[in-house]
Amino acid sequence: MLWLLFFLVTAIHGELCQPDAENAFKVRLSIRTALGDKAYAWDTNEEYLFKAMVAFSMRKVPNRETTEISHVLLCNVTRRVSFWFVVTDPTKNYTLPADEIQSAIRMNRNRINNAFSLNDQTLEFLKIPSTFAPPTDPSVPIWIIIFGVVFCIVIVAITLLVLSGIWQRRSSPSPVMVNDDKEHWINTIDFGNFRTCDHSDMKGWHINDTFMTEDERLTPL
Ligand SMILES: *[C@@H]1O[C@H](CO)[C@@H](O)[C@H](O)[C@H]1NC(C)=O
Ligand SMILES: *[C@@H]1O[C@H](CO)[C@@H](O)[C@H](O)[C@H]1NC(C)=O
Repeated sequence: MLWLLFFLVTAIHGELCQPDAENAFKVRLSIRTALGDKAYAWDTNEEYLFKAMVAFSMRKVPNRETTEISHVLLCNVTRRVSFWFVVTDPTKNYTLPADEIQSAIRMNRNRINNAFSLNDQTLEFLKIPSTFAPPTDPSVPIWIIIFGVVFCIVIVAITLLVLSGIWQRRSSPSPVMVNDDKEHWINTIDFGNFRTCDHSDMKGWHINDTFMTEDERLTPL
């Protein structure tokens, strides 16, 4: 009779903790990657510590203060360590909701990592994002904003430099262009294309035209 009850209980346990079962979480450990030569073997004592850490985390959740180590079930433990776990209610009749387990694990992630000398990369709760994931999201836009502002300032500074360079070069003629005749000089600078036909023109007309073209040239800038 007792054996029958025992088999019944283990059968229920087997059903509750299964790969991809409802409220079941997969855990993957890379002890050798994390600790190298100091790696420890994953045995039943380590499993007990894991169950204790999960029970400890669950006991901090409201209405789950009565969680015991025996309510945490492990199954399908592989040699290159991975396993599934569920947390049952005190009657061991059903598993506790996944979101409660998820928040409990996230709240105590550092304590659990420290218990096994592992970190978020070497102790993976496959469906539970690590605690440090959310804070990194807002910091990226801030970095981009700062970069954008600096980039814009640099672009504006370069544009101003180039514009002032062009303006200076146009307002003060280079010595190479200066000829013997002052009237000719104006024509050489401003109407290089009309050099051949400008000698017969009146001086006043030249000056007026020079100012006009100066304005016209500045407006597109
Ligand atoms: C998990 O373990 C059970 C029993 O130990 C076995 O029947 C099942 O095939 C295993 N599942 C996987 C995905 O390894
Ligand atoms: C499961 O829960 C029901 C009530 O919800 C109860 O009657 C039954 O005895 C429980 N089974 C076990 C094995 O605890």
